[in-house]
Amino acid sequence: MRFTYPQGATPLDPDTIAGLIPHLTTQRELNEFEARNILLGERWALRARGENRGILLLTTLRKLHTRMFDLTWRWAGEFRRVETNIGIPPHQIPMRLEQLCRNTRYQIENSVFGWDELAARFHHEMVSIHPFPNGNGRHARLAADLLLTRHGQSRFTWGSRSLVESSGVRKTYIAALQSADNGDYEPLIRFCRS
Ligand SMILES: Nc1ncnc2c1ncn2[C@@H]1O[C@H](COP(=O)(O)OP(=O)(O)OP(=O)(O)O)[C@@H](O)[C@H]1O
Ligand SMILES: [Mg+2]
Repeated sequence: MRFTYPQGATPLDPDTIAGLIPHLTTQRELNEFEARNILLGERWALRARGENRGILLLTTLRKLHTRMFDLTWRWAGEFRRVETNIGIPPHQIPMRLEQLCRNTRYQIENSVFGWDELAARFHHEMVSIHPFPNGNGRHARLAADLLLTRHGQSRFTWGSRSLVESSGVRKTYIAALQSADNGDYEPLIRFCRS
């Protein structure tokens, strides 16, 4: 299997690669395989019953990653154990995710931000933590969408094009995340509804 990476993607380490379940040879085949898996995960998430009710829970966030990647990667739903270029040290992941869920619940209860800003900030913090070995962008986009839809809001459009391959839209998305790294959330909020 030969991996290629678009801008802003996390390169995979050998242990992560060893967790690939299907036999594939190109990045394109992998993208398509993952896309089918993610569709099943999305369908599961949209049913929103039982264990999948509260999105601001570590168990639900992990389960969502599992459902999105379980046919593709053996480590689906498991937290990252290695350092990555983006993301915090692995041992801090559970604590920082708990904090994020708590803060977001507080922001909702106290109407600290409008829904778009709240979900964009949630998304940015999720990808900054980088909880999983891979699939963080796609997982955190769906998680932000679910946060919105479970509260009666429409989901984000995320530039209205696939962000998986390199493209102008992906560049805009990554640049917006970098602005958010520096505390300016406006470009990301705009991008999410573009
Ligand atoms: N400067 C940055 N600050 C915060 N997050 C970033 C930054 N650069 C990239 N990211 C996030 O990291 C993601 C890449 O991580 P990862 O490869 O785990 O996710 P992915 O789902 O496989 O990628 P993709 O977004 O291509 O589907 C990007 O999609 C983006 O969401
Ligand atoms: Mg990736």
